Amino acid sequence: GFNIAPLLKATGGVTYDPGFMNTAATKSAITYIDGDAGILRYRGYPIEQLAQKSSFLETSYLLIYGNLPSATELDAFDQKIRRHTLLHEELKGFFGGFPREAHPMPVLSSAVTALSTWYQDSLDPFDEEQVELSTIRLLAKMPVLAAYAHKKSIGQALLYPDNSMNLVENFMRLSFGLAAEPYDMDPVIVKALDQLLILHADHEQNCSTATVRLVGSSNANMFASVSAGINALSGPAHGGANEAVLKMLRQIQNDGLKPADFMEKVKNKEDGVRLMGFGHRVYKNYDPRAKIIKSTAHEILSKLGGNDELLDIAMSLEERALSDDYFISRKLYPNVDFYTGLIYKAMGFPEKMFTVLFAIGRLPGWIAQYREMLQDPEMKIGRPRQLYTGERERNYPNR
Ligand code: ACO
Repeated sequence: GFNIAPLLKATGGVTYDPGFMNTAATKSAITYIDGDAGILRYRGYPIEQLAQKSSFLETSYLLIYGNLPSATELDAFDQKIRRHTLLHEELKGFFGGFPREAHPMPVLSSAVTALSTWYQDSLDPFDEEQVELSTIRLLAKMPVLAAYAHKKSIGQALLYPDNSMNLVENFMRLSFGLAAEPYDMDPVIVKALDQLLILHADHEQNCSTATVRLVGSSNANMFASVSAGINALSGPAHGGANEAVLKMLRQIQNDGLKPADFMEKVKNKEDGVRLMGFGHRVYKNYDPRAKIIKSTAHEILSKLGGNDELLDIAMSLEERALSDDYFISRKLYPNVDFYTGLIYKAMGFPEKMFTVLFAIGRLPGWIAQYREMLQDPEMKIGRPRQLYTGERERNYPNR
């Protein structure tokens, strides 16, 4: 990396780089990606090892604090999070204000922004204790808010968190449990969801993380910055792709389209149709997360009995893409979102919740990046430049 900034400052020049294809806006020690080789590491640990051996809680600690915790540190972290799951009762009332058919992503981002109005004692980004407190609050409360957004959309009562459960178990019970009945936890689902959250936990300067940093660079508090990240994640070119993939697969199924015919539409760019869940700005090789998720999809769908026809369509699309010149020449491979929707669906989540699950997974990454930014002595407010293409100067007419 060559720092061109001093030269540009001296000469008054600017770089023009739409989409920041070649611009490093920060230094970071959190996540390493080699897009050509298909490598992803959190704090130096390969994603494959973390997915197999770690837990979402431990990976969150690793991302945020830099190293794997000792057993005592992990237990203390776990206990702190369990103690902070409750929401202020009036904040729960907030959910009554949204229309029933609301998408849970804007409900979640609004609720996360609203946290800042209830927890005003942890908003100062320059006070380390407050930053730590909002870290714990967000990790503990966001899955609760996400589950409530789901309950709201299906018109069911909101349950209180049960702090004898860990973060993922609590989220499952709050999402699917009923007030009058004990919840029958399925350890296979909990384990698979935990692994999926690990795979989503960070991905360096993606659109939502860059947004969290940009908003945070104005010294906005962590709740405001993360809420902005949730909105950035909601788009179908980013986190919203997991929902878009399932819609695409269902449409192919419902229209009785042959995968080969759908691929022709994609290749001819008919109506701007893309093969959702394919392609990535950084990976020009198989996304290592997609590799892990593909095998989980087979495992979970055979255990839980998901929609095999949709999985068959997905596999047929992938097989065709991997041997097709259009995709090969553009280095388009399945990304993290290609198979996740099928797993979430088999777990019982409605499509609208898929991107919310992504947001729960990405939260520790957003927090780690926000905190790293605050510690960076070179940190400046994010303020891109532009190349002006409008009218030069015009005189207002005398009328
Ligand atoms: N299907 C068909 N063609 C594609 C696809 C796709 N999924 N993705 C890219 N292309 C084509 C483009 O049409 C373009 O072709 P051209 O050279 O003939 O014009 C070429 O590949 C390059 O594509 P760009 O859009 O320039 O690549 P960029 O890096 O800007 O976009 C992105 C990356 C947004 C992920 C893109 O691949 C895409 O839209 N994929 C589908 C949506 C998706 O799955 N998003 C999730 C991304 S991962 C994540 O956020 C978790």
